[in-house]
This record gives sequence, C-alpha cells and structure tokens, in this order.
Amino acid sequence: MEIRDLAVDDLDAVLDGRKRAFGPIPAGDAGLWREIVTPMLGAGRYLGVFDGTRLIGTSRINDYDQWWHGRPLSMGGVAGVTVAPEDRGRGVGRALMRATIERCADLGHVASALYPATTPLYRGLGWEHAGSRHRVTLPTEALRTLGDGGGGVKLRRIGPDDAPELRNVLERVYGASRASGPLGWEERVTRLWLSDEDDFAYLADDGFAVYRWHKGDINVDNLVAGSEATARALWSLVGTASTVASTVTASVEPDDPVLWLLRERSHDAVQQVRWMFRLVDLPAAVAARGYPAGVTLDTVVSVDDPERPANSGAWRLEVSGGKGTLSAAGGRAPEAPRFSIGGVSALFAGVQPATLRRTGLVTGGAPAVDELLGSAFAAKPYMIDYF
Ligand SMILES: CC(C)(COP(=O)(O)OP(=O)(O)OC[C@H]1O[C@@H](n2cnc3c(N)ncnc32)[C@H](O)[C@@H]1OP(=O)(O)O)[C@@H](O)C(=O)NCCC(=O)NCCS
Repeated sequence: MEIRDLAVDDLDAVLDGRKRAFGPIPAGDAGLWREIVTPMLGAGRYLGVFDGTRLIGTSRINDYDQWWHGRPLSMGGVAGVTVAPEDRGRGVGRALMRATIERCADLGHVASALYPATTPLYRGLGWEHAGSRHRVTLPTEALRTLGDGGGGVKLRRIGPDDAPELRNVLERVYGASRASGPLGWEERVTRLWLSDEDDFAYLADDGFAVYRWHKGDINVDNLVAGSEATARALWSLVGTASTVASTVTASVEPDDPVLWLLRERSHDAVQQVRWMFRLVDLPAAVAARGYPAGVTLDTVVSVDDPERPANSGAWRLEVSGGKGTLSAAGGRAPEAPRFSIGGVSALFAGVQPATLRRTGLVTGGAPAVDELLGSAFAAKPYMIDYF
C-alpha cells in the first residue's frame, strides 16, 4: 500500500471510487467537479492510496479560511474520503486519514474540519464533534413582509468578477459579529460558484445572499447581513418569491437574526448536519483565533496528541485583550487539566468543559479553571457551506 499525490490521469479512477462510495454523479456535476479539483492535484491537495497500480482510497483537502471569534484561520476542509468497497475494514481509511493530517500540516493549515459520514474513524485520530450546519425552513410570505429596511439598502446583482468584493464584505461582517465557524473560499472557487446561472446572488455594503429554486421552493445557500436594515432587505428580497414558493430553506447561524426578525416563531424547523474539527498546529491556532475582549486567563493545560507529538505536553495558555498565546510550560503538569487532542479541539470550538469532563475528553484540574477556559473559548460555531 502506497499513499501519494493523485495526478490528472487518476481522475477517472477517482470518479469511479466516488460513485461506488456516494452514488451516481450527474454528468453535468462531474464536469464541474473536474474543474474544481484539477488545480488541487498539483497543489498536493488530493491524496490517493494505491495497491500496486490500483487506486483503493482517496481524500481531498480544500483550502479554506474558517472564522473563529471574528478572525480567519487557515483550515483544511477534508472531503471526498473514499475506500474501495472490496478494501474496506482493513485499515486503509485510518492510514489515509493519518496521512491527511500530516498533509494538512505541510500545507500550513492550523486546523482541519470535515462532515463525517461515520464518527469513529475520525474521532480515533483526533477530530471531535464541534459544530453543525443549520438548515432552517421558513414560510416565504413571512420573509416577504420583513420590509426593505427603510428602503436605504442598496442591493446589486453580482457575478464572478465580484469575488474579491464579496470576500471583503464577509471579512467585515464576520469580524464585527465575532463569527465562529463559517468559511472563506479561494477566489478561484468563489468565481466558479458565482458563475452558476441557476444561482441568484446579491451584494450589499454589509451583506450578501445567494439563492436558487429547488423543486418549486427556494434554497438559500448563503445569506449574511451585518445590520438589521440589510437583513430585512435581503430576506424580503428572497421573500418576494412567495407567490410561487411556499417555503424557503436556508443555511443560517444557530442564533441568526432572521429568527428574531420574524413576527411569529414557535417551532423552529431546523435540520442539523454535524461537522468535526481538529487542531493541527495547536500554538498557531490559539494565536490565530479571536477571544472575548473581557476575558483574562493565564493557566497551564496538558494535551495528548499521539498523532502529532508536537501538540503534546504541558502548555501555558494566556488570553487577554482579545488575543491568545500558547507557550511550552516545560516538563509535566500533574495539577493541570489534561485534554485529549479531540478534547482540546472541541474546547477551541466552544464545547464547554462541563461537557468535556463528563465525556472523559478532559480530566484533572480545578473547576475555576474550567469556567475560565469555557469563557475564553465560548462559541456556537456553525457553517453555511457543505463540502
Ligand atoms: C468510511 C470509510 C472511508 C472507512 O474506510 P476503511 O478503510 O473501511 O476504514 P478502516 O478499516 O481504516 O477503519 C478505521 C476505523 O473506522 C471504523 N469504521 C470503518 N468503517 C465503518 C463504518 N462503515 N461504520 C462505522 N465505523 C466504521 C472502523 O471500525 C475503525 O475503527 P476501530 O479501529 O475503532 O474499529 C469507508 O468505509 C468508505 O469509503 N465508506 C463509504 C464512503 C464514506 O462514507 N466516506 C466517508 C465520508 S466522510
């Protein structure tokens, strides 16, 4: 068994593996898939497992930024994990995911996330459940009547050439709202999806929306708004479809403002798809993340990461003024809380120590430290995009 970078000549075999793993792929989608993944081959972002010349496994690492408390950090989004049906259950997937973690580190990603079809494979290597993609279904008419925010919000249609401006808007809105979890994409990929003629995209100074028709209703892929006026303007624009579409299904934040703007709310119709998260370079990730400005913390934590020993050991964690640093504390720290790499990854993503303690993902340490750690990393992370 050999793990190496895939090449263009391997793509037919990769597509065959994807069909065997996930089902048929419509002909049109296969073309777009080739367009998206071909540049990733030379960038070391598509790994293959070979048994001689036979391709038996694949994994892909998408190049994302992920915002954590308003600051983007480099994240490897793992996707397209497949093992050939006849080769499953004998360790190929595990070997592949080990190589994928190392490759994420080589590519400079300080963290990794993935949408798991199964948990144990990823949990065993340090990814832990962290957040979810929330898809809420709302009555279109209730959105139409949200009004246009006083009429002062300028919305304009956008296309591929607006990719850089869209990125600027997202940086501003996610920074100001201290967002945790959403993704930023390479400009090349943004341009591709802004080219899809079935998607309708609109930009405001502090927000944007992209939506499409789906079986007579509306699917909102993304709707981000930095103010009440822009939220009303974008949602009511989508809501003008109410004469034809009875519902709108949208990816939203768990506490998305639209849920408070609606006149009526009782039962939320939400579908959650879970994603898992793993820190790859612990000190770099701690330094890249944002923190609540009012939290000050100086403590020692101990971390076990059998896959990446550089993350293991006793660490001094300092948080103040919205910034964090992690420095080697030297030696052992028997009094400090002791996290598995999955535990510290979940903590980073806002899972509270009270939960981690009752699942064995952290042991030792004192309750007062738990509360401080919980405040420093508090977050309700989400993702808008599926990959
Ligand atoms: C999921 C998949 C990649 C696993 O590959 P594999 O080579 O069979 O996995 P391994 O033999 O290395 O097993 C690794 C661990 O995952 C667990 N595992 C493997 N397949 C599993 C399954 N179908 N359900 C639950 N756990 C599974 C194994 O038990 C093992 O854990 P353990 O050592 O704690 O027992 C493979 O079954 C596959 O391609 N499935 C279809 C596509 C898919 O679901 N991909 C994942 C998308 S996120």
